[in-house]
Formats: sequence, structure tokens, C-alpha cells
Amino acid sequence: MRKFAITTVAIAGVALMALSGCSSRGSSTSGSGDAAGFKSGSVIGVALPDKTSENWVLAGKLFTDGLTSAGYKPDVQYAAATNTVADQQNQIASMVTKGAKVIIIGAKDGGQLSSQVQQAHDAGAVVIAYDRLILNTKNVDYYVAYDNEKVGELQGQALLDGMKAKYPDAKTYNIELFSGSSDDANAPVFFKGAMKILQPKIDDGTLKVLSGQTDIKQTATAGWLAQNAQSRMDTLLAGNYANAEINGVLSPNDTLARAIITSVKAAGKPIPIVTGQDSEVESVKSIMAGEQYSTINKDTTKLVAQSIDMVKALAKGSKPATNSTDYNNGVKVVPTYLLPPQLVTKANAAESYKNDATLEPLTQQ
Ligand code: BGC
Repeated sequence: MRKFAITTVAIAGVALMALSGCSSRGSSTSGSGDAAGFKSGSVIGVALPDKTSENWVLAGKLFTDGLTSAGYKPDVQYAAATNTVADQQNQIASMVTKGAKVIIIGAKDGGQLSSQVQQAHDAGAVVIAYDRLILNTKNVDYYVAYDNEKVGELQGQALLDGMKAKYPDAKTYNIELFSGSSDDANAPVFFKGAMKILQPKIDDGTLKVLSGQTDIKQTATAGWLAQNAQSRMDTLLAGNYANAEINGVLSPNDTLARAIITSVKAAGKPIPIVTGQDSEVESVKSIMAGEQYSTINKDTTKLVAQSIDMVKALAKGSKPATNSTDYNNGVKVVPTYLLPPQLVTKANAAESYKNDATLEPLTQQ
């Protein structure tokens, strides 16, 4: 009898909160009405950045298909390549106007979405940061990503291991460092992870950065654009490697890795150990051909599926699963679901991609 009474009160309370748009979780992680749940057929917004790597292209299709088959009405938008930030801001504002219950955002510039996510919260939508964190706002409810710092650590370690294997007699190695676009919140996290591994070896003289460019401002690649990495590499080679060999390059992703390799080839130099990330088709081919050394397997299918699981939990009025409190966006710790990234070299490519219909065949040699 007592149990029944409590249950009734609890249900009444939830119903009341649903009506008033309050969260049953209090104000600790969200100011939005996520505990109220929502119906199938609801609009779910997905705002993706410009298509700077294959994973973004794939994510759009997977979100459209996955949300549709889960019974929602997806509104998937990419920001244009020019005026990208403004374009994404407008797209998010229009998702709010369309009554989206959840807005999933792969931010072009994680520091420039405060008013849009405020608008989303004011309208009762839940905001999920996808792959890239949204910074300096309390109005981001969840974050779902591969562990970005771990990605950087794997890249740093791969650079060391690759050079050790390729130059077994060397005592020191000449390297150069590249980082991602400074408007992407992930770029400093990747770099921080890599430098955790590399900085001690720079300090003890094992690694020599002949250009002296070790600061993230000097190593950044605006817009994650291949041509920017290629021209910086051209300049680095011309200025520092006329009489020296380059043994390794820290590249934060595959698109830039291939641009760096193109530059090295054009300079007529042997290809050094070059890291990457994203398991792009051309890079997996390059790894199998013995050119690019490594990439990172961050299966987009799993990341999108995890995000859609969050939407399903929110639709039921429950709290999505999270497994990390590592990500503070400058204002709050954002409840996060992190997936584990995996390092891939020629040695484990077949194993790593064994369930991937596109990549697995490329590893059969
Ligand atoms: C993603 C990387 C990608 C890069 C450029 C980052 O935020 O995490 O996977 O290579 O953006 O698109």
C-alpha cells in the first residue's frame, strides 16, 4: 500500500514536471526539459561542420538513416565551407524554430555557439556535443566522442615506435609537429595527448625539432585544410632540411598526413614516419603501401549509434548513459560518453578493420 502511494506521488511529480518543463534531475547537468521525454516523430536536429574529413560525410548519412529508422524526423545540416561559423549558427537557430527536441552538434567553432545553445535550452531542447566539445557555456547537456586525449597519446607513441623500427641505429631523430585547426576544441586536446609522450623526448634531446616550432600556435593548420599543411611542410623542408633528413612528422589526421607526404615527395626526400587519424580510405591504402605509418580507428558507426542511444533515452524521459567526467568545457563538467580509439598500423590493419566492409578488403594483400 505504502509502495503504491509513493509510486503514485512520484508519477504525479514527474507528470507535473513534464508539464512545467522542469527536469527531474534538478539543475546539476541540464537546464532543459529532458526528463519530460518526447514522442516518436519528433524533430531531432543534427548540425555538422564542414566536410574536413570522411568521418563527417559518413556521420550525416548515418544520422539520417539511424534517426529515421528509430522513428524520429532528422534535420541534418552541414555548415557551408565559407562563412562556416555563421552558417552553423543559423542552422541551429532554425532547428530550434522547427521545435527540435534534441540538437546534436559537431561544432565548427566550439567557442562560438553560446547564444544558439542558450536559445535551444530556452525552447526546452537538449543539446548534445558530438565529437567536438562546445565551450564556455552551461547549455550543453551531454558530450559523446572518442577519447581525444588518448588519440593524441596514441599518435605520439606511434611516432616514437615507428621511428625506432625504421631507423634501428639512430640515437636521435629529426621531427616536425602539426596540429589541427585552432577553432576546433579537439585540436589542443589531440596535441596535449601527443606532447605528453613527445615533450620528455624533446627535453632529453632524443627528438630534435629542427624548425624549433613546438608551440600549438606555430603548428596549427587553419581549417584542417590539406593545402595549409602542405605549404607549411614545403616551407619547413626548404628552411631546415636542405642538408638533413626528416625522420618523423606528427600529423593530427589523415587528410593532413597525405598532404605532408605529398610535400616530402615533391621535395625528393624519403618519406618519414607520419601519423594520422580517421581511417580514411586513401590513408589505409597508403599505410598498406608502406607510406603513411599509422592512423586511428574511430568507427563513426559506433559514435553515431551511441548518440542515437542518447536520443532514445531522452525520448523515454530517462538519463542517457555516460562514463566520463573528464571533459570540463570551461564552465562545467559535461557528462560524457567516451569511446576508445584504436591505433592502426600495417601490422594490425586487417584485424582492426575486420568488420568494416569498405576498409577490410583494402587490408588483404
Ligand atoms: C575530428 C577528427 C577530424 C578533424 C578534422 C576533429 O574534430 O575529431 O576526427 O580529423 O576534426 O575534420
